[in-house]
Amino acid sequence: MFKTVKHVCCLALLPLAALAEAGPGSELARAQGIAYPAVIAHRGASYDAPESTAPAYRLARELGADYLELDLQRSSDGVLVAVHDDNLLRTSDVAERFPERQDQPVSAFTLAELKSLDVGSWFNKAYPERARASFKGLKIQTLDEVMDIAAANPQRQPGLYIETKVPNLFPGIEADLNKALQARGWLERPGRVVLQSFDRNSLALLHQHMPQVPKVLLLWIGKGSIEPASQQTFAESGEADKAAFYARQQPRDKAEFVRWLDYAKAAGAIGTGPSAALAGGGAQSYADLVQPWMNQLSHDEGLLVHVYTVDEPVDFRQVLEAGVDGIFSNRSGQLLRYLGRPSARSEAQILRAEGY
Ligand code: G3P
Ligand code: CA
Repeated sequence: MFKTVKHVCCLALLPLAALAEAGPGSELARAQGIAYPAVIAHRGASYDAPESTAPAYRLARELGADYLELDLQRSSDGVLVAVHDDNLLRTSDVAERFPERQDQPVSAFTLAELKSLDVGSWFNKAYPERARASFKGLKIQTLDEVMDIAAANPQRQPGLYIETKVPNLFPGIEADLNKALQARGWLERPGRVVLQSFDRNSLALLHQHMPQVPKVLLLWIGKGSIEPASQQTFAESGEADKAAFYARQQPRDKAEFVRWLDYAKAAGAIGTGPSAALAGGGAQSYADLVQPWMNQLSHDEGLLVHVYTVDEPVDFRQVLEAGVDGIFSNRSGQLLRYLGRPSARSEAQILRAEGY
């Protein structure tokens, strides 16, 4: 699993990544069997294909991502599935298929009901320039199916980076996940699986069931996470742009940031997953929790830093220069090119070859 940037062809183009190699994060990553810098395909290659679907995960695998990221939830009949949102409205045709139940949580649907949904057509409408007829009718993936995809090509074997999503809605999901991973032999290779959560209790439960598996505490500024310096809400700020509001947010003080590093370690984490403020703003842009002093403190505490969610070279450069050890990206192909690990085939060529 462990990779460094040593093998890349054009280090002259990568002064930041090369610099980072000498940093403390590379040793921390090596000790955990985690790639460095880690390329984490956020909900798969979800810029080019509908998030958390087979083509998104197959594309990320073929591009060479180190990890396929997924948000874990559970059907009403107990099957683990990859879905990000609390409900199905944004990414499926649930409003047409189950109008009475359209805003119910994922946990209210059986696997057969979830599998009856089309989770591809919304993407074609939202992103016509990236639409493909073959995305129509795509199905929600079970954890087992994502494992199948990750293991399908002997030449390209990404790990899984699994988040327990809204874990309070799914009591026992940490134990279920352990069973599912054990049953498939996924916990045998160190660093093949990384576990993540915003929820400290869920992370501690994951640690109880899988003490040997690396874990990451996700961080942001707001309710249930790092306390902000200012108590002013977005509504009170009068700001038109949410990203601009978030970009001004800072932890209450250094001690508050350190408190969350301590929480991470207490829950068994080997790293944190902080948010980033992006140069172009947008819906993925939050508080900048990867400022150099923060990354330095994290490394001093023996913690890796995997930042979410970064898609553009200008931001890759910014966060790598600040000292992060891995990046969640919807555009893992673009990130791999930036790091000097390009795929021989373009995203479009791979999708065509995979039958999409
Ligand atoms: O898991 C890292 C990142 O994915 C956290 O944000 O909302 O995309 O799950 P979200
Ligand atoms: Ca996630």
